[in-house]
Amino acid sequence: MSHQPRRIGLLTGGGDCPGLNAVIRAVAKTAIYDHSWEVFGIEDGFLGMIENRIHPLTAQNVSGILNTGGTILGTSNKADPSRYATGYNASGEPQFENVIDTCLANLLAREIDTLIVIGGDGTMSGSQAFVDAGVNCIGLPKTIDNDLEGTDLTFGFMTAVETATHALDRLHTTAMSHHRVMVVEVMGRNAGWIALHAGVASGSDVILIPEIPYDLKSISEFVIERSKHGKRFSLVCISEGAKPKGGKQVVSKIDPTSPDPIRLGGIGEQLADDIARVTDLEARTTVLGHVVRGGTPVAADRVFATLLGHHAIGLIAAGERNRLVVCKDTKLTDIDIRTVANKQRLVSLEDPLILAARAVGTCFGD
Ligand code: F6P
Repeated sequence: MSHQPRRIGLLTGGGDCPGLNAVIRAVAKTAIYDHSWEVFGIEDGFLGMIENRIHPLTAQNVSGILNTGGTILGTSNKADPSRYATGYNASGEPQFENVIDTCLANLLAREIDTLIVIGGDGTMSGSQAFVDAGVNCIGLPKTIDNDLEGTDLTFGFMTAVETATHALDRLHTTAMSHHRVMVVEVMGRNAGWIALHAGVASGSDVILIPEIPYDLKSISEFVIERSKHGKRFSLVCISEGAKPKGGKQVVSKIDPTSPDPIRLGGIGEQLADDIARVTDLEARTTVLGHVVRGGTPVAADRVFATLLGHHAIGLIAAGERNRLVVCKDTKLTDIDIRTVANKQRLVSLEDPLILAARAVGTCFGD
């Protein structure tokens, strides 16, 4: 029991993912029950801090949410207070303003001295300005992409892999019945973690990730070879960020007001067309998209989220400042939050799962 009273602000930033509510619950209940601290929920990530939408959170507010998807606080992947889009000029270009002072004033008005920022690299980067302004920021690693620097695991990833694997399993059976090449595109931005893990778990024949640019010829030869040996279908799991050798990623949308303006998507359709043209086999595409971000978290994500929330409050009680809670070699620990800004953790070509998948005959398109 810490005797120093605290007023903590809590926000969820960036794209949502399963397990956010489990973390909110763990943070708020631990702070309230163990320390009698006051907790404030900030709505829609940094946007709520800019717009002064901050309200007290009670233990009752966070009760019954452990197994629910999404975030009760809401989130936004557009509002970076250091570069906040305030409108457009006459030529239609977005205009940006630094609104850190507004945010600091809104925190000060409630005497909030510590922020718990739950997010991925965008949110951790956004928190740097608050660290520089003297606000203690404790980060918790969230993203289905699992691409946050400094941690082996982010919560939400395990559920995303589970959801994608179930979808791949279903597409596997219909691929077999129709003797088709079934291409399944999954999210993950520039990192292939979801495609790699769901691809291996589902026994996908071909796994394509951004870290290994693919060669259409080698994929085509691989699926034709399978057809010749009685496997008249192939399951291809492709990451939205994958690209052909010498080619580019497929961009579905650009949002200039967002700190990360590029939205990927469409490579699955392109690959299915290419495979059908080159091999004469029938090919279909399914884009899983936001399906893998929604829904109830798996048990492992709920457990991980609860441990993360507890660790965060322990750090604050111990007087630690500006730490990111991470998982390293299966152990929970923490690192300086400033070391992870603007970085992405990509899949290493020597990742044990790549080696294991290659050993069972999986094609990576290289
Ligand atoms: O970072 C999570 C993520 O779901 C990525 O996998 C994906 O590229 C992106 O967010 C999609 O963003 P939005 O929800 O803005 O379409």
